[in-house]
Amino acid sequence: FHLYLDSADLGALRTCLPHPVVHGVTTNPTLLKRAGVTWEALPGLLTALLRLGAQQVQAQVRSPDVDGMLADADTLLRQFDPGQLVVKIPATRAGLAAGAALTARGVPVTYTAVYALEQAHFAAQLGAAYAAPYLGRLNDSGVDGLALIDRMQALVAASGTPMRLLVASIRSRQAYLDLLALGVGSITIPPALFTELMDHEATIAAERGFLADAAE
Ligand code: E4P
Repeated sequence: FHLYLDSADLGALRTCLPHPVVHGVTTNPTLLKRAGVTWEALPGLLTALLRLGAQQVQAQVRSPDVDGMLADADTLLRQFDPGQLVVKIPATRAGLAAGAALTARGVPVTYTAVYALEQAHFAAQLGAAYAAPYLGRLNDSGVDGLALIDRMQALVAASGTPMRLLVASIRSRQAYLDLLALGVGSITIPPALFTELMDHEATIAAERGFLADAAE
């Protein structure tokens, strides 16, 4: 199972990393904008995250066409060792074509903004490393996101490929637990939710008692 932090906010990420349950960090242009990180500053942020203990970072292309996506990917890839960086590409018509070209070169790809079963299937067919459905946004659109992701998970398992679902747009602990029950291969969560999952008040209180007793 791969757990990711979904953020470009270095300050927030520093409160979570390093930690052995975290595999890596996912970003996208919206998260970068929110954190005030420019495209030019993105490699620096990713380098800092690797130094902070992320085993892998995921960064997204910013162009809508195949050539632009491939140029964006190469700009990022040339600054990292193989395997450190996964290239995120929206699962558009052009995105699937650009991703296939990267996969042919051995570059790990995440198809993102996956909203439909067939997109997850295309991703597996093209040898993607990950396909990222957005649970919260699916629910926002009136679809039963969990039920759809359950069907995607069955389809991925049946595909016989090593591709994992990387479920994003997770807004609550319950959503995280529901996804674990489906057996999805990876989930990306905001740092605030990570803190909620890590720091249980009852456990902290129990430890406080143990520490007090140990000190007597
Ligand atoms: C995924 O890449 C997005 O960053 C994120 O998961 C979207 O979350 P939201 O729909 O809660 O904004």
